[in-house]
Amino acid sequence: MRVTLDDIRARELRHVLQTYKRQPVAFVRGSGARLFDTDGREYLDFVSGIGVTSLGHAHPGLTAAIADQAATLLHTSNLYYHPFQAEAAARLSELSGLTRTFFCNSGTEAVEACLKFARRYWYTQGAKDRTEFVALEGGFAGRTFGSLSVTHDEHYRAPFAPLLAGVTFVDPASPDALTAAVTTRTVAVIAEPIQGEGGIRPLSPAFAAALNDVCARTGTLYIADEVQTGLGRTGHPFYFQALGLRPDLISVGKALGGGVPVGATLVSERVAQAISAGDHGSTYGGNLLGTRAAVFVLTQLMEGGLIEHVKTVGAHFERRLRTLALKHPIVTEVRGAGVMRGLQLSVDAMPVIDAARDRGLLVNRTDEKVVRLLPPLTIEPADIDRAVDTLDTVLAAIAPEVAV
Ligand SMILES: Cc1ncc(COP(=O)(O)O)c(C=O)c1O
Repeated sequence: MRVTLDDIRARELRHVLQTYKRQPVAFVRGSGARLFDTDGREYLDFVSGIGVTSLGHAHPGLTAAIADQAATLLHTSNLYYHPFQAEAAARLSELSGLTRTFFCNSGTEAVEACLKFARRYWYTQGAKDRTEFVALEGGFAGRTFGSLSVTHDEHYRAPFAPLLAGVTFVDPASPDALTAAVTTRTVAVIAEPIQGEGGIRPLSPAFAAALNDVCARTGTLYIADEVQTGLGRTGHPFYFQALGLRPDLISVGKALGGGVPVGATLVSERVAQAISAGDHGSTYGGNLLGTRAAVFVLTQLMEGGLIEHVKTVGAHFERRLRTLALKHPIVTEVRGAGVMRGLQLSVDAMPVIDAARDRGLLVNRTDEKVVRLLPPLTIEPADIDRAVDTLDTVLAAIAPEVAV
């Protein structure tokens, strides 16, 4: 018997903790940039599981690697060696320039490890009163207590107070505020090179320069949260590279496993030297399945010409979105890089998301008035055109309503 959306919904309402406001659709199959729902209806996917399925759905090579690993050995624990952690770590090091990797299972865990390793660095230096963090207004770093503590949105934070003490948030539009906020008690500054959940907002060159400067002068560590921006999405291996930033720690997640949960914290050699056995750990972290998937994704990125592809289609995407914005005054700004794009609207973005889905295009809302577009890195120009044409139709239908 075929499962229906109504059945799934009814069962979820009874049994699944209602932490998510889901859209009224259930997917059962995917292929490349396409998803198929319980009625067999096809959608063009410009969400990619929120920046996760970078190689598209059911990528044959990734599928084969995962299937082979599942049939060979899934998990043994960090009590023992296996081949794939070192292989994935070597590739991450080549892409980032940071020398060592700790593996975990998600973005929030990658951030937690960054915060712990950064504190551990100063503890090892004997600076035990250096315990505080500087984070950014509009920043998002995850939902566990440490990463929530450096996440700005009060809506996420308030019900769970008290969070980590000693976190100062600064306005990313103010390099001077950053310089003033860093003190002799600051462990690290954490910042996404492009704020993802905060509305696809890249750091300005002036802010990046102030960040480099204050870290160089005070020894403060910089944590680049690249969970959403990392691994080719912006047309660069990491977006800190495009901004000329110099991180000591990088959090990675989302795209790393192409859909298999795996995260990583990359650290510089000076931080690595401060870490000892037993300082941190994870039962699943770096398991064979996750790191085998990561090796496959990283190989595609480094040897499959994917980053060049993102640069080319990203430029096309930007041109098409800028033309769209000129046509529709409710689009007030186009932001982002590569295939990580945001349309700032002057109105709530949710009606656009719903109308696009009705027309077979999946996009998502962030920061209330931003339409976020995260197609797979493998997206072709014809699908970008199709998505932008759909948005054109949707915006044309919505704008008159807004005007009244
Ligand atoms: C920049 C950034 N950091 C951390 C996270 C948390 O990742 P996860 O949801 O895998 O825990 C996210 C998730 O959206 C993110 O965008």
